[in-house]
This record gives sequence, structure tokens and C-alpha cells, in this order.
Amino acid sequence: MIPMVDLKRQYLALKPEIDAAIQDVLTNTQFILGPQVSGLEADVSRYLGTPYSLGVASGTDALLLALRAAGIGPGDEVITTPFTFIATAEVVALLHAVPVFADIDATNFNIDPHKIKEKITKKTKAIIPVHLFGHPADMDPIMETSGEFNLKVIEDCAQAFGAEYKGKKVGTIGDFGCFSFFPSKNLAGYGDGGMVSTSSEDYFQKVKLLRNHGSSVRYYHEVVGYNSRLDELQAAIIRVKLGMIDEFNSSRRAAARLYKKYINGDAVMLPSEASDCMHVYHQFTIRSGKRDLILKYLESKGIASAIYYPVPLHKQEVFSGLKKDSLAAAETVSAEVLSLPIFPEISDEEILRVSEAVNAICL
Ligand SMILES: Cc1ncc(COP(=O)(O)O)c(C=O)c1O
Repeated sequence: MIPMVDLKRQYLALKPEIDAAIQDVLTNTQFILGPQVSGLEADVSRYLGTPYSLGVASGTDALLLALRAAGIGPGDEVITTPFTFIATAEVVALLHAVPVFADIDATNFNIDPHKIKEKITKKTKAIIPVHLFGHPADMDPIMETSGEFNLKVIEDCAQAFGAEYKGKKVGTIGDFGCFSFFPSKNLAGYGDGGMVSTSSEDYFQKVKLLRNHGSSVRYYHEVVGYNSRLDELQAAIIRVKLGMIDEFNSSRRAAARLYKKYINGDAVMLPSEASDCMHVYHQFTIRSGKRDLILKYLESKGIASAIYYPVPLHKQEVFSGLKKDSLAAAETVSAEVLSLPIFPEISDEEILRVSEAVNAICL
């Protein structure tokens, strides 16, 4: 079986370092907001080239706390992509604000910056671009629009740790960068975890308060907050992996290059990479009208594949009360996408087997 992702291979390769890091935390017995979390925050800030990073409980909470810190509340509108994981828009609804979906650019699966302006109303307060599958959203026009209409920009970097847009790391361009350390992500722990990055000291202080029950001095509470702390065990594991993130991302890029060499690009649409971006291939996602046939055939050959995402958010039951929009690109893409196995440790032979299977069914 060729899986979508094989976490065991990575663990076995890093076992001595990871086991030692876990043992250190166990010996230290400081499990919440200790030296590993502050160490990881400093390491991530250094890596991204941004002044502030804060560990939180998940990527979802990273988005939620960033929105709260940005002052998003009931009735506010937040523009985002319909082609993403539910968390991106769920956090908006959790704050009794309204997610407004702008269609995507079908070539890179990200929000189409030219579709944003037509969605802006007096109530619009923020934009959440998602760097989906590891490919940066087109940030320059998004930042231009946000400047023109005084909107906050919260980058959803859950799938794109280390990706670059015009030489800048994603998560350092908007007001906030929100990362997920869910186990299958490019940079990941062995449980839930997330991080918020920002260059604003004010936002940093706000997120810091919010993640710890609205408190900076123990048992004194200034605002209604959350229990949303990254724990020390996760931070220790993620620190080990952060030291290897460039290597992991280059291996993913090498795997993607090989897929592009082996898969017949006339039979399926291969993922593209903008010339001024560095894609980190959290997913390698092809498009085909025969998507369901390919998935079944791969399954019969012992090869996993996955549909991210089968239903765009504006068509989800949970958002059926929102304004009915037709978002043609997101709808077409949802019916055609198929993600193939990709992870840093995937072998050339496995990539060849997957590619040959895709080519065989598409003949
Ligand atoms: C695009 C996107 N946003 C947000 C999230 C939420 O991250 P988490 O699962 O860590 O809460 C995810 C991950 O699952 C994601 O893929």
C-alpha cells in the first residue's frame, strides 16, 4: 500500500532526537507554557523573519485568536476562499461574524484577488487568504485591496510552513500568519498545535492574553479568553522537526518534480507553481474529469489518494443560511481534484508506481 502520508518513516528516521526531546520534557515536568514553547516561538520567529510568534492549541485556534485580536465580532464580514478546510470559515462564524466567499483562481486553487473587491461592503473587516496545498496565494493585490479598504489580512498558512511569496515567507505579509502543527502538516507535532505570527506588538499582546484565559497576571483576567496553549511535549517535538523543515520541503519539491516528469500532463492537469513563489507541496493535487475513476483505479492498485475538498464551503450544509452565490471555479475544481501521496520520505519508486497507474487509467 502506498499511503497519502507515512508518519512512521519520519519518526523512525528522527527517533533518537525526538525521544530525547520528549524525555527532556518528562524529566523537566513543566508541561504548560515552559521553555520548549518559548524556545519554539523564538525559533519560528527567527525562521520566518518576524518579531513575534505565539504557540496555541491548534491551527483553528490560531485563526480564531487572530480574528479576535483583530477585533472581528458580530455582524462583521470576512472575505475568504470557498475552497479550503472548514476551519478557515468556521472561526468567522464562531465569532458571529459572516464568512463571504470569493471565487478561486483555478490554476493555483487559491482565492482570486480580482474577485475580492466585488464582495466588499461597509461591513467587511478582513480577508483570510489561504495558501492552499502549500502554494502561496497572490498576496500583492490582496494587500493592495486591504490597504485601500482598511481591511485586516489573516494568512491561513496551515498547509504552507516555509512557502515563499516573492522571497517572503508566508505568514509575514498580512497582519497575522496562522499555522497548524496537525500531525500530517509540513511542520507537525504528534497531536494538535498551532502558531500565530505577527509583526505587531499590540496584536502579539492581545493573542498572548487570549490564549491564556485573558490573563497576564495569574488569577487576574482582563478579557474573556480561551484555554489555547501549545503544550511543551508538542513544542519539543516540533523544535526537532523545525531544524529539518527546509530539507523536508525540498524533498516534497523533488517528489513533485518527479511526478511532473512521470505523469502525462496531456491526460490530467498537473499542479502549477508561479515563477515568483516557492510551493511546498503539502499536497500534490491533479485535476481530471475522470477523477473518480482514477481514485478507484489507484485504490485497486493499493495506492491511496484523497479528495481535498469534495464540497466547497458555500455549498456546505452548515453555511446554507448564507447568501447563495455561484462560485464556478471552486465548484468545477471540487469535482475534479485528486491529491496523490506526497511526503518527504516517499521513494522515487513509489512516485513512479503512482504515476504509471495514473497514466494507465487515463489512456
Ligand atoms: C487550510 C487549513 N486551515 C486551518 C486548518 C486547521 O488547523 P488545525 O487542524 O490545526 O486546527 C487546517 C488543518 O487542518 C487547514 O488545512
